[in-house]
Amino acid sequence: NIGAQRFLPDEVSLPALREAARHCEGCDLYRDATQTVFGEGVPDARFMLVGEQPGDQEDHEGAPFVGPAGRVLDRALEEAGIDREAVYVTNAVKHFKFTARGKRRIHQKPTVGEINACRPWLEAEMRLVDPEVTVVLGATAARALLGPDFRVTRHRGEPVPRREGAYYVATIHPSAILRAPDRDEAYAGFLADLTVAARTAA
Ligand code: URA
Ligand code: SF4
Repeated sequence: NIGAQRFLPDEVSLPALREAARHCEGCDLYRDATQTVFGEGVPDARFMLVGEQPGDQEDHEGAPFVGPAGRVLDRALEEAGIDREAVYVTNAVKHFKFTARGKRRIHQKPTVGEINACRPWLEAEMRLVDPEVTVVLGATAARALLGPDFRVTRHRGEPVPRREGAYYVATIHPSAILRAPDRDEAYAGFLADLTVAARTAA
């Protein structure tokens, strides 16, 4: 359990990273998952969206945010005026973590150790894409990018400087909307945060 660092390629490009990540054994999550789900999108994206980890459907398809949470995300991006073609989408942790319950695979939250193990992939993606705005989706992505003391509930929708001219904007995870007692209210808050993100890009 030494982390992903030693699996990173010498060549620094998104295709080289994606290929190398297929063979990552930086933590134990590669054992039970179907495949590594690497980030997707244009290399010069102005927006980078960072989720938690692939879900059941993402694990099968090998692409991020193609399941129920992805549909919520797509709708909100469109309503916020963010072109999905201008976006790079990835996750803090690149393998699906689950427990089997009968035939169903139930999502499990990654541990701090797993988030830290996987962070070299995310950092490499951040360096290469270098987006103007990084949308941090939920507590796991916030821990990976903003550290353990950042509280999404307190600071959601507030641009946080990343470097000169580039910002993080944190919000809730889209799957939290699907679980919320009042989905419409949760969605409205999510859309408001994405709208801040859209306006934060120059
Ligand atoms: N949830 C995530 O955090 N990421 C995905 O890719 C899908 C669901
Ligand atoms: Fe490597 Fe991340 Fe998968 Fe762990 S979750 S094996 S660190 S790609």
